[in-house]
Amino acid sequence: MGTVFNLTINDRQVEAQEGMTILEAARSADIYIPTLCSHPLLKPLGACRLCVVEITDGGRSLMGASCTYPVAAGLDVKTDSPAVIEARKVLIELLLARTPKARIVQRLAQEYGVANSRLRVADPGELCILCGLCVRMCDEVVGANAINFVNRGTNREVVFHPEVSAEACVGCGVCTTLCPTECLEIEKPYGVVAAVDMGRKAAVAIDKYLGGAGAIGEELIEYENPSPRIGKVPGFADRPRSLEPCTLDAAPSGAAIGEAGRCLQCDLRLQLAAVKAPPEHYHAFNAENVRQTPEEAGVIQLLDGDKMVVAIRGVMNIRQELEREVAKNENARWFEWEADEMFTKRESELIQQYLQKYGKMPGGGMDELDDLF
Ligand code: SF4
Ligand code: SF4
Ligand code: FES
Repeated sequence: MGTVFNLTINDRQVEAQEGMTILEAARSADIYIPTLCSHPLLKPLGACRLCVVEITDGGRSLMGASCTYPVAAGLDVKTDSPAVIEARKVLIELLLARTPKARIVQRLAQEYGVANSRLRVADPGELCILCGLCVRMCDEVVGANAINFVNRGTNREVVFHPEVSAEACVGCGVCTTLCPTECLEIEKPYGVVAAVDMGRKAAVAIDKYLGGAGAIGEELIEYENPSPRIGKVPGFADRPRSLEPCTLDAAPSGAAIGEAGRCLQCDLRLQLAAVKAPPEHYHAFNAENVRQTPEEAGVIQLLDGDKMVVAIRGVMNIRQELEREVAKNENARWFEWEADEMFTKRESELIQQYLQKYGKMPGGGMDELDDLF
């Protein structure tokens, strides 16, 4: 066991093992820092800079990427100081200009109150934020190295090398699962995973047909945590790959048997952690929670049971308005509020963000748009 360091994060004492990064130390203490290019299975890259924090290290203050900065005794870290928030807003503006439709970017923009980017959007359909998760996962963990960055600067992009991927890609689908912006697609079939999934569905159906409850999760052997590092399997890429969809609705075809033979049983997908979205601030919409809100001007948002926004409203008195709504609004199940004296401006920002994301007004109607004008 290595040395344990004591450091301070957001005025809290946190213990961290030598070798951990500030990000890992913060996560171990349940402190949220946004990230886009970090993954526990991968070496840190420091590409997105979103994990920036303010660090005081031996009397020296600096802004640094928490995913690459190693912990040390006595570090004083602020994850959400005004300087950090400002830096993240600029980064989110850059991301919004590159990938305006990426859902995770929109979520971060909403979280940090960034309504628009001042920069020109070069390609409104672009979804890749160049985080490199797919490239590194394919190389460092899968060991296939089938996907890579090409070009530099604004032309930089991720591609499956046409002549290389056909040989090197093992079709595991890990890159598509991991991509935080859901922009990767592998040509169907990406065999084994789909086949296993269908196999599970078939097993559930068979169990139910035989009178069971369809519960196929029962563990008959002791489960060991598999190593995610499957590495390269000699000759694996040369095994013939089925280019036809394999179905399990009849006796297994030769192609299906071939595909099953290609399965590495790596369980890697089960270990992929998605990029952590900002924590939600919604409160259950009831009188007791409403009583905790301030009697100040601000913006309230009401959400239905699926956490879809049904109303965004700038109000003079947050508590009074919520009390009125809690008595009469039957659709709202959740709410959030922000105190803001410039509540009309904030209200329109939030409505614009909603419109951009869903192409309609909150709640589906046009009443609020009418109210606005
Ligand atoms: S499917 Fe697997 S092997 Fe193919 S590019 Fe993606 S991560 Fe690499
Ligand atoms: S394709 Fe997805 S995972 Fe790969 S670099 Fe782009 S955003 Fe990241
Ligand atoms: S730079 Fe740290 S998560 Fe991207």
